[in-house]
Amino acid sequence: DDYRYRHFLAQHYDANPHGRNNKYCDTMMSKRSLTSPCKDINTFIHGTKKNIKAVCEDKNGVPYGANLRRSKSPFQVTTCKLRGGSNRPPCRYRATAGSRSIVIACERGLPVHFDESF
Ligand code: C5P
Repeated sequence: DDYRYRHFLAQHYDANPHGRNNKYCDTMMSKRSLTSPCKDINTFIHGTKKNIKAVCEDKNGVPYGANLRRSKSPFQVTTCKLRGGSNRPPCRYRATAGSRSIVIACERGLPVHFDESF
């Protein structure tokens, strides 16, 4: 069952982003149902599923700590951080766009958790 993979994609995968600014984050966080309550921080990866999945393999990933994998190559990512102190909607976000190595968890060869990027 790839339920956790599909959940990962829903939260963290956006191949063709528009804008990558605060408005992008506000729209995407809502579209992906991450706004009840407002999630504090969420990263969208602008890569292909193939390249993201490859982080779970030697093709594009190396072990990171006990349970995580770090990408060998950087991805374009946009990180959305909640503005203000409240998790109550409406949720307003600050966007940070960049090219970063991602750290994820994999299960049976599929990404299931986004940990961090740097
Ligand atoms: O770091 P923390 O435990 O607060 O992360 C909780 C969740 O926030 C992660 O599972 C991930 O979904 C998301 N996150 C993210 N991008 C980051 C940090 C956290 O998407 N840079």
